Amino acid sequence: MNFLTVQNLAAGISLAAAVLIISAVVYLILTSSKKEDTKKATKKVERFRSRYFIALVIVAVAGFVWSMSFLPYAKKTAQPEETYTVVAMQWAWKMGPGELEVEPREFSGSNDLTVPAGKLLRFNVTSQDVNHGFGIYDSEGRMLAQTQAMPGFTNPLDYEFTEPGEYHILCMEYCGVPHDLMMAKIHVE
Ligand code: CUA
Repeated sequence: MNFLTVQNLAAGISLAAAVLIISAVVYLILTSSKKEDTKKATKKVERFRSRYFIALVIVAVAGFVWSMSFLPYAKKTAQPEETYTVVAMQWAWKMGPGELEVEPREFSGSNDLTVPAGKLLRFNVTSQDVNHGFGIYDSEGRMLAQTQAMPGFTNPLDYEFTEPGEYHILCMEYCGVPHDLMMAKIHVE
């Protein structure tokens, strides 16, 4: 299922829910006669509210479980075939093959990385200054995977690029005025 389909589905569901709620309100207004005593009306609203709440919980839980099957991350049991280091800094990305063997500040990576397609890759993501967000996007701006880049911590992100092409790294956490300039590229061959 592609991104647009998911987005349209979400829009459709919200629209259907909005129509349902409006119809319910209209129904309540139309069916409540002026002579109806307040107690009865309150009971009616309360009954509707609790049913609505239960229905909402069921839909939310079912939607959550269903959407979990679309998680792009590899199963914990899969072993990554190649490892890459990613160091975030204000306001650039330093990336390179292999493990990080120096202090993050001393690491000299590139904001242009070439990786193979069809292999499970591990990105060990850290930061040399403040919190950043490492987000991998395809050429059409769809997010594929992400993790936090935190100073003092290494967050492994396992991801397999199935298609060759050009991918973008965007920072996903506000980290200063030039935050939106914090971009990098991954070429998948
Ligand atoms: Cu780094 Cu925003």
